[in-house]
Amino acid sequence: MFVSIILLWLCVWFIVLQLKSRRPKNFPPGPPALPVLGNLLNLSLENPLKDFERLRKKYGDVYSLFLGPKPMVILNGQSAIKEALVTKGIDFAGRPDDLFVNDVTQRRGVILADFGPSWRDHRRFALTTMRNFGLGKNSMADRIHGELQYTVDALEKNIGKSVSPGILFYNMASNIICQVLFGTRFEYEDEFIKVIVRCFRENAKITNGPWAMLYDSFPLIRNLPLPFVKAFENVKVTMAFGRALVSEHKNTKVPGDPRDLVDCYLDELDKRAGEDSILSEEELVSVSLDLHFAGTDTTSNTLLTGFLYLMAFPHIQERCQQEIDEVLGGKHPVTFEDRHNMPYMQAMIHEVQRIANTVPLSVFHSTTKDTELMGYSIPRGTLIIPNLGSALKEEGQWKFPDEFNPENFLNDKGRVCQTRGLPAFLCRSSDVSGRGSGSYGAFPHLGDSAEEVQVCLASGRRRARLDSGLRGHPVSQTLLHECPAQGDTVRRSYNPVSIILATSH
Ligand code: HEM
Repeated sequence: MFVSIILLWLCVWFIVLQLKSRRPKNFPPGPPALPVLGNLLNLSLENPLKDFERLRKKYGDVYSLFLGPKPMVILNGQSAIKEALVTKGIDFAGRPDDLFVNDVTQRRGVILADFGPSWRDHRRFALTTMRNFGLGKNSMADRIHGELQYTVDALEKNIGKSVSPGILFYNMASNIICQVLFGTRFEYEDEFIKVIVRCFRENAKITNGPWAMLYDSFPLIRNLPLPFVKAFENVKVTMAFGRALVSEHKNTKVPGDPRDLVDCYLDELDKRAGEDSILSEEELVSVSLDLHFAGTDTTSNTLLTGFLYLMAFPHIQERCQQEIDEVLGGKHPVTFEDRHNMPYMQAMIHEVQRIANTVPLSVFHSTTKDTELMGYSIPRGTLIIPNLGSALKEEGQWKFPDEFNPENFLNDKGRVCQTRGLPAFLCRSSDVSGRGSGSYGAFPHLGDSAEEVQVCLASGRRRARLDSGLRGHPVSQTLLHECPAQGDTVRRSYNPVSIILATSH
């Protein structure tokens, strides 16, 4: 009997040892991991960002955790992130391929495509085509101004009432990118935009929520009817819309005279007909939905944060308006070139991007080969999580790391002195189709809006609105403490109209 118990105990111990997650040799340090669970108990499922910061204090800028049995490395601070994503860009340019997001997107498109010919070809295509259609040029600014007029109209319809800017900004950003992708904008009540925006928002929430983390940690639950199933259904819906748009383009396009990115891709497909090409109609649908999502979610959340901070810090808003008045002197509309004479506006936009921390853990990377980082060895195929927030508020790197203050981007002469790695963090390998486009998009938006509208929090409801609308949003906590008391709003130069923006999503 005694021998049987010892044998049983040895068997259990052996099984536990086999299941235990082991760190490879010279791997970055980290907390001990449990069999099967890995480090799941070290992280909050709702919001692991604070845990990442806590673990950084204990284990340093580069540490490791286990997602179930899978090892992953968390990068913190500017030096570690820069060394990985910029200096050793190619070594860290892969994407993991066994996560929730990969299954949802069927491993197609550009954002989540692994480092290789398909990613390279599609990224090059997206970058060239978006530039041809105006990215970083005034023709893009024209599209933005055009769309902004619809937003201002929508705001005016709500004069004296509270509006939810979340959906409004989402629609606006979506329509701007739709014009480049599909050559058209959609009325805000159009079924396409309503459904697509709903699906994007729901999927962004699911992807960043607890169910996606459980899906990634426990492969056995992946086929169960749990809440993450909704994301798969949403992708089916958006793919169906995408296919319909592509097929409509096929019927109406004039070869050699492209109207938009979809036409360009179809022309390229015709050119490569008969070749063994990685381009295909299904890839086209995925790439255009990828770009639509990438350009919509990030831009609208950044704008939302920008407006919120401008409401909460009226002296910064006033200084922007003063610069706009001095430089533009009533000239309308603002152009992309005007930014060179508007350092404070530019600094404010960089600062909004810094403080918004819109994509706090970036898009997960993976190593493309065995490599080294800050003296540690990291094997090929390791999941890499860049904790961008840790760099965007790093002590010693910013004049005011925890404050919303455009001075962070201005030198003593009042010139924009640096963009401190902001673009570097938005890239995979050496450059990227999304790089810079975010700040470009934000410039005319914030410039135009600040010219016309002075925004304030709805007085008396501030605390309630912030609590309900921005729960979990990094700015809510800061604002609840820092927000100075204010009265209701005025539309600048168009008194006595008042627009009250409530900050619920
Ligand atoms: C404020 C606005 C934006 C922010 C904060 C932002 C942020 C990011 C981040 C953090 C990444 C991950 C980079 C990496 O893999 O290391 C990314 C990738 C990407 N973004 Fe953006 N982005 C913005 C706007 C846009 C826009 C307007 C577009 C295009 C319409 C875009 C298209 C992309 C694409 C295609 C990728 C994937 C690149 C690749 O995997 O090679 N982004 N973005």
